[in-house]
Amino acid sequence: MVNAFAAPMGLVAELTHRCPLQCPYCANPVDLHRASAELDTATWRRVLQEAAELGVLQLHFTGGEPTARKDLVELVAAAAGFGLYSNLITSAVRLDETLLGRLVQAGLDHVQISFQDTEAANADRIGGFPGGHARKLIAARAVRRAGLALTVNFVVHRQNLVRVPAMLDLAEELGAGRVEIAHVQYHGWALPNRDALLPGRTELDAATEAVEAARVRFKGRLSVDYVVPDYYAARPKACMGGWARRFITITPAGQALPCHVAESLPGMVFPSVRDHSLAAIWRESPAFVRFRGTDWMPEPCQSCDRREIDWGGCRCQAFALTGDASRTDPACEKSPDHAVMMAAVARQSAEPPDFVYRRYGAAAETAG
Ligand code: SF4
Ligand code: FES
Repeated sequence: MVNAFAAPMGLVAELTHRCPLQCPYCANPVDLHRASAELDTATWRRVLQEAAELGVLQLHFTGGEPTARKDLVELVAAAAGFGLYSNLITSAVRLDETLLGRLVQAGLDHVQISFQDTEAANADRIGGFPGGHARKLIAARAVRRAGLALTVNFVVHRQNLVRVPAMLDLAEELGAGRVEIAHVQYHGWALPNRDALLPGRTELDAATEAVEAARVRFKGRLSVDYVVPDYYAARPKACMGGWARRFITITPAGQALPCHVAESLPGMVFPSVRDHSLAAIWRESPAFVRFRGTDWMPEPCQSCDRREIDWGGCRCQAFALTGDASRTDPACEKSPDHAVMMAAVARQSAEPPDFVYRRYGAAAETAG
């Protein structure tokens, strides 16, 4: 039983769901929060202060696109004032030299830029933002010139996986300290797009080989993180390092979540930072306690020697694929529901279907 637990290591501040891009694998909920529902600056400042008091070390400003918030510089300055290490997770299409200079001045420590591909035309098609790739390259170089640490992130899938070697080369050329090659996780907008995104085994193995080779080549100067798709794994990942163990996510409207997808779980009430302190939420709220530790686990997890390694996998994936968040993650070969993942792999078509793009109110809309 884990109940006398440590403070969260990181706070994920989803400042807004507004975003100029429309990636079909966005982890934001399909039902996006409107700008009018967003927390105001004063409430965010209080949340940041409470995070520092609770013992949080790292703050991740994300969204949507966090640069869409007019008070971003003010919030970065507040975070620095409270002693938090701040990371800006951005599409970077709006991160020009002026804004970057103001963010550096305010005390920003790190920037993570997500790329859709290395081929501009395909990258812009996937992100649904013409000219976006070129802007990202300019922004990434400006980040390095400004002396900030840079991580570049590539979300990979069947429509760009073949370019993993080029992605690794680009990360090196941009002077990143870390590159993430992250296969799509099938939450939010990615689940309805699964058939358009899930790669085949052969392409996956080639990409994995390229990552292994790059790790040797880049040793000591550029670290390579690699997130494999659950659909080809034998065991699940410890999603978010375990439910309510390492991270706390705040949605644009102020809901506190143990993971960024948890709002998809029905019947759970997630407390709002408008009404509760972060410390009370972390320590006592029923939603955070619900899947923390191992007591909640069913078999086969309960008697498994990996139960304190992967913490039973992902609750949101268990719900999305079985309708029950308390079941063993179907990514696990020992799960009685593992066949649902195998069926998705077996169903792959030669040609991927059209994307469902991330748009306000566009869950059922398709485009090519
Ligand atoms: Fe993890 Fe549960 Fe599978 Fe064991 S049975 S590997 S704890 S998901
Ligand atoms: Fe919610 Fe994995 S995304 S627990």
